[in-house]
Amino acid sequence: MIPDKAPREDVFHGSEELKRDAHVSSFERYKELYQSSIQRPDEFWGDIAKEFFWKTTHSGPFLEYNFDVTKGEVFVKCMGGATTNISYNLLDRNVHERKLGERVAFYWEGNEPGDELTVTYRQLLQSVCRFANVLKAQGVKKGDRVSIYMPMVVELVVAMLACARIGAVHSIVFAGFSAESLCERIMDSQCSLLITADGFYRGDKLINLKLLADEALQKCRDKGFPLDKCIVLRHLSKETEDTSQSPPAKRACPDLQVPWNPEVDLCWLSLTRAASDECEPEWVESEDPLFILYTSGSTGKPKGVLHTVAGYMLYTATTFKLVFDHQPDDVYWCTADIGWITGHSYITYGPLANGATSVLFEGLPTYPDVSRMWEIVDKYHVSKFYTAPTAIRLLMKYGSEPVKKFKRDSLKILGTVGEPINPEAWHWYYNVVGEKRCPIVDTFWQTETGGHVLTPLPAATPMKPGSATFPFFGVVPAILNESGEELEGPSEGYLVFKQPWPGVMRTVFGNHQRFETIYFKKFPGYYVTGDGCRRDKDGYYWITGRIDDMLNVSGHLLSTAEVESALVEHEAVAEAAVVGRPHPVKGESLYCFVTLNDGLTFSRTLEAELKQQVREKIGAIATPDFIQNAPGLPKTRSGKIMRRVLRKIACDERDLGDISTLADSSVVEQLFQNRCGAGV
Ligand code: WT7
Repeated sequence: MIPDKAPREDVFHGSEELKRDAHVSSFERYKELYQSSIQRPDEFWGDIAKEFFWKTTHSGPFLEYNFDVTKGEVFVKCMGGATTNISYNLLDRNVHERKLGERVAFYWEGNEPGDELTVTYRQLLQSVCRFANVLKAQGVKKGDRVSIYMPMVVELVVAMLACARIGAVHSIVFAGFSAESLCERIMDSQCSLLITADGFYRGDKLINLKLLADEALQKCRDKGFPLDKCIVLRHLSKETEDTSQSPPAKRACPDLQVPWNPEVDLCWLSLTRAASDECEPEWVESEDPLFILYTSGSTGKPKGVLHTVAGYMLYTATTFKLVFDHQPDDVYWCTADIGWITGHSYITYGPLANGATSVLFEGLPTYPDVSRMWEIVDKYHVSKFYTAPTAIRLLMKYGSEPVKKFKRDSLKILGTVGEPINPEAWHWYYNVVGEKRCPIVDTFWQTETGGHVLTPLPAATPMKPGSATFPFFGVVPAILNESGEELEGPSEGYLVFKQPWPGVMRTVFGNHQRFETIYFKKFPGYYVTGDGCRRDKDGYYWITGRIDDMLNVSGHLLSTAEVESALVEHEAVAEAAVVGRPHPVKGESLYCFVTLNDGLTFSRTLEAELKQQVREKIGAIATPDFIQNAPGLPKTRSGKIMRRVLRKIACDERDLGDISTLADSSVVEQLFQNRCGAGV
C-alpha cells in the first residue's frame, strides 16, 4: 500500500535542517514505524502510554473492538481496566514530574491588539483546580454533562479541563451557534449546568453571548427541560474589584447588556475566589466519556460524537507531537476555535499533553487588518502554524504585501485542516507564507476520528500539493467500490478504515444504533468516513470531498437537511432543497431552492426573512448565499429530489447528463430561467 520508493516528481521535501532533530526523520523510518504500529500495536502504543500517568494499569490487549455490525454490537475499547485522569496528565504531570511549571502554556492574544495575557502551566493547574472545586460545589458529579458556550478565552480551557478533572463530560457549543442550536444541544446531552460569558468582540462586532444563552435556556424551559444553573464569566464587563489575572478588555463596550437572573446565574469570579486551588483528580476508567461534541448529521439532527479518556489522550498527544514535530522551544499556534474538534484536539488536549507553548487567539485574521496573523507570528515567534484552507484563500485575495510586512522567520512547519486544499492555495501558503522553507502538513481527519488519520509527517513524507498523503500510525485505510469491494493500486471510491485507532469516537451520545447505522452499516467491517478518495500510482491518498448530503462551508460540515428544515419552518415555504455551489473563499456556499405555498409570490423581503431564519435556527455559518424561487423541483418518479441536477443549475452548467429519470423535465428550464446570482 505504501510505496517502496518515495516518488521523485512533483513532490516537496522537508529541509535537511528539519530532518536533523525530527522525531521521524525519513520516509524509511515512517514506514518501519507504521508497520510496527499495525503489526504490534500493543508494543507501539504501550511504549507511548509509559510516558503518561496511570493510577492503575491495564491488562489484556491494548485495543479490543468489533467493526462488523453483522457480528454484534460495534465497540472499541482501549486500555481496558486502566484508570487515569487527563487533566492530571496535562497539568500536574507537566508541573510536578516534568518540572515545566514556569513554562508558558498559553499566550492569549485578544481580539483587540494589545489585549494579552500569559498563562504558565502552574497557573493553569491552579485555575483548573479552583474551577473544578466550583463545579463540585455546584453539585456536578462524575458522568454529568456540562455545556460550555464561551468565546476564545483562557477560561474556556479552564472550564473544559475542570470538567475532565472531576470526571464530568463537557459539551462545548461553538459561540457562533444560535440560541436554538444551543438549546437543542443542551437538551440532547441532558446537561445539568451551562457555562457562558457576558459577551465578546469578533472584529468590530459585539456578540452578546449572555443574551443568546438566556434565550437558549428559555427555549429549554419551554420544551420542558429547566436547566437552572448558569455560570457567567464577565469577560467584557469586568467589575472594578476584579483582581483576577486577565486584564479588562481595551475596547469599551457601552452596548453590552448583562441581564442577571439571581435564581439561575452565578458569577464565575465570585465562585472561584472562594474556592481552594487544590483538587484531587477523579480517577476514571480508560473508557469513561471525556466529552461530547456535536457535528452535523445527514438527517439534519446533529450527532453528539462521544470521545473517551485514554485513547483520545494518547492519540491527540502522539499526532500533535509527530505531525507538528513538536520541540521544546516551539511556539505553536492553531487558529481554529476551541468550539470545533480542531480546537479540542490541537489547542487544548494535544499541545498540553506535550507541555507545549501555544498562542490562543480570540480575534479574526482580518482585524484590525489583514496582516494580523503575521503580526502575531512575529510577536510570539510562532514556529508551528496550523490553519484552514478557507483562511488561506481569504488572505490570498489581498496579495503578498500584507504578509511580507512581517518577517515570519520563526516559522518552521505549516499545517492545514478542514477541506481539501486547492493547489493554488497550497503554493501560495508554501511560497509566500513559508518562503519555501516550511513543509505543509495537510491533515485529513474528522470530529469522529479524534485526531489526524491521513497526514504527512513534516520531515519524513514527500508532499504532493493537495494530498493528505499517507495514514498515521495505527490507521489502516482502504478504498471501496459501491459493492463494498476493496480496490487495490490506483483507484477511486469510498474512503473507509479497517480497524480502530485509539482516538476514534466510541458512540453517538444516547443513540448507539445511530452510530452503527451512520458509520458501519453500509460496509460491515469498516468505518465509513463519508468522503470520496482517490489513490494515485504512488499510493498517495487524495480526498475528493463528501459523498453524502453534507456541505463543507469554510471547513465546517453542514447538512443540507438541517438547512432545509430551517427553511421549511417558514410559513411561506412548502419545500426546500439545498446544494453546495463552489465558492472562491469558503470552498462551498449554500444555494437554496424554495418552493412557496400556493398563491404566494417570491420577494426580496421574503428572501431576507429566510436568510435570517436560517441564521437564527443554526447560526451565522449556515446563512444561505443564494435563495432561488423554485415553483417546481426536479424529482424522480419516486419523488426523490435530484440534487445532482440542482447543483448544475446553481452553477449555470447546462450539461446535465442523464435526466431520463426525471418525472417532469420542464421544471429544469424554468429553474435555469429563475437562477439568481447569474454572472456571480
Ligand atoms: C470533514 C470533517 C477535522 C477538523 C475539521 C473538520 C473534510 C477535513 C480535510 C483535509 C480534505 C478534509 C472531510 C471530512 N476534511 N480535513 N485535510 N483534506 N478534506 O471536522 O467538521 O468533522 O469535518 O472535513 O470532508 O470528512 P469536521
